[in-house]
Amino acid sequence: MRNKVTKAIFPVAGLGTRFLPATKSVPKEIMTLVDRPLIQYAIDEARAAGIKEFIFVTSRGKGALEDYFDHSPQLENELRKKGKDDLLEILKSTNMDSGAIAYMRQHKALGLGHAVWCARRLIGNEPFAVILPDDVIAAEKPCLQQMVEAYEKTGGNMVAAMEVPPAKASSYGVLDVKEDMGSMISVKGMVEKPAPGTEPSNLAVIGRYILSPYVLKNLNKIKSGAGGEIQLTDAIDQEIGSERGVYGYRFRGQRFDCGSKSGFLQATVAFGLSRDDLRDDLHSYLTDLMATEQAAQ
Ligand code: UTP
Repeated sequence: MRNKVTKAIFPVAGLGTRFLPATKSVPKEIMTLVDRPLIQYAIDEARAAGIKEFIFVTSRGKGALEDYFDHSPQLENELRKKGKDDLLEILKSTNMDSGAIAYMRQHKALGLGHAVWCARRLIGNEPFAVILPDDVIAAEKPCLQQMVEAYEKTGGNMVAAMEVPPAKASSYGVLDVKEDMGSMISVKGMVEKPAPGTEPSNLAVIGRYILSPYVLKNLNKIKSGAGGEIQLTDAIDQEIGSERGVYGYRFRGQRFDCGSKSGFLQATVAFGLSRDDLRDDLHSYLTDLMATEQAAQ
């Protein structure tokens, strides 16, 4: 029987330089899409996929993230006194079971691979998920849940994959495809940030992974790769050809790159429009704005 995936690593130790000056004092993962921080979307997706243990790889200055998942008795008492049950209910989604959440420090931002490696002792010898909270995915069935269901059939290692225009491929890890089976893709190679024009396909890896513990062993030996960072892609690439293998998974859903300003703004509009309490106002504002812009041209 295959081990169930019950642990997830959330690497949140990056510097978030694209959002300076905001990220000087606010962790990127606490920035909000409408009224929920990015990390809340990631936690909800993990819960839906059956994750029970949540491992955050953090760094200096990320204290707000730890506070976010703490109980806040004073606030809760105030809301209770005022009979604000709806707000109390909203706060519940931020509560984590005792012992379900762990924090590990990455002392230096040496790359995503290094951040994942920092959590190795908490993973042990089990398969595990990795979620990058700045990739937010709007989907009817949450992306990691889709992947866990597919993984139950294949095992091995699985990365979320998405088609990107060739000009953008050099910003991603890119799959070299052995066999394209529709939603599943058998992989014969992976390249992190290929030089423009050398990408092996237009299938980019985005921030959802289900990995075997062997990837952590590979990370023990990996030297820095693209951009001088220790790359997770390189450690996964070493699994190709093992009995476990590597699969790409074409998820159903829309991914927003909330690590970039433009992706974050697009997600804000999309999530705003998907909300019953905001849709009408926001829609009429956007319609008026477009009409004014067109008239001015
Ligand atoms: P990014 O490449 O988006 O880097 O990291 P970043 O530092 O967060 O942001 P910019 O590029 O400076 O604006 C992708 C994911 O990997 C984590 C980040 O926290 C983010 O979730 N990461 C990256 C680490 O945890 N440690 C690292 O050393 C690097």
